[in-house]
Amino acid sequence: MNTEGSAPVVLAARNLVRRFGDRVAVDGISFEVRAGESVGLLGPNGAGKTTTFSMVTGLLRPDSGELLLGGAALVSDTDPIKRRLGLVPQDLALYEELDARRNLGFFAAIQGVGRSRIPEAVRSALEFVGLSDRADDRVGTFSGGMKRRLNLAAALLHDPDILLLDEPTVGVDPQSRNAIFDNIAELRRRGKTLLYTTHYMEEVERLCDRVIIIDRGRIVADDSLARLRHRAGAGAGAELRIELEEPAPETLTGILRDIPGIGSVRIDGRSVQVRVGSLAAGSSQVLGRLAEAGIGVRSFSAEPPNLEAVFLELTGRSLRDS
Ligand SMILES: Nc1ncnc2c1ncn2[C@@H]1O[C@H](COP(=O)(O)OP(=O)(O)O)[C@@H](O)[C@H]1O
Ligand SMILES: [Mg+2]
Repeated sequence: MNTEGSAPVVLAARNLVRRFGDRVAVDGISFEVRAGESVGLLGPNGAGKTTTFSMVTGLLRPDSGELLLGGAALVSDTDPIKRRLGLVPQDLALYEELDARRNLGFFAAIQGVGRSRIPEAVRSALEFVGLSDRADDRVGTFSGGMKRRLNLAAALLHDPDILLLDEPTVGVDPQSRNAIFDNIAELRRRGKTLLYTTHYMEEVERLCDRVIIIDRGRIVADDSLARLRHRAGAGAGAELRIELEEPAPETLTGILRDIPGIGSVRIDGRSVQVRVGSLAAGSSQVLGRLAEAGIGVRSFSAEPPNLEAVFLELTGRSLRDS
């Protein structure tokens, strides 16, 4: 489901503040999420994303500020309205010595799933994440990616409307990452409200209707990706990806850098990446110079500037290094 201005606000944070000793981890954060929206929470390590999630799910009390869930204030971890939320925590919370089915049975019970409904809830969650055939194996024997998938399944047992996913694909092999990614895309299609943190830009770009950028405990931007790009002054720019017929000659860097208005140029064997200020003018210049130099092009594609570039523009800092 896409962002709809008219859908009701299901989650609202008002001026949340949380300190740890002298350190202000979350420094006055306010945002709203509407039913069916998929919102990416993006920021470098230590920005305050997990602390924000902990407050939203009632695991951590804010020092000040307020949380509204479906319009009602969330007071404590045991608040019954919490049942509408599901959290996929950043750190795995699984019992290695128990099998997958017993792990989920345990989580279903603490999430308040009725005893008679637990077996079906567990079966369907295992099926959803593609682990049915491993239901009776000890979690200690699972790969990192399988544990991540089970971690996701554990958040779905009580069929929450709102899911908070805290770096759900961190540190997993590409195959499991794709599986988790497909699961999340499916949850979105089913109309779940998603709040999502990740370090992988392409996940946010493909999954999220809106992006909230957090830096040092504060929100520095909260907007659609298209508008963020525009705001960062990168609206017309593009990243060109070119695959050459042959490995690039050494002279190519100089040839491309000579083009007026060209941004960064990266060359690695046959693959060339070039940032241009204008998609139309930049592409024709780059392709023209390649043709003049007799360099054959096998494929060519152009993408809008990614969130990484937008973040750098908004904060003056890189998303990954900081
Ligand atoms: N339990 C804690 N005790 C002390 N400091 C903490 C604790 N949890 C988080 N912090 C600090 O709060 C800041 C925000 O952390 P966190 O919310 O985990 O950021 P993120 O999830 O964006 O990486 C960091 O400086 C972190 O070191
Ligand atoms: Mg975190």
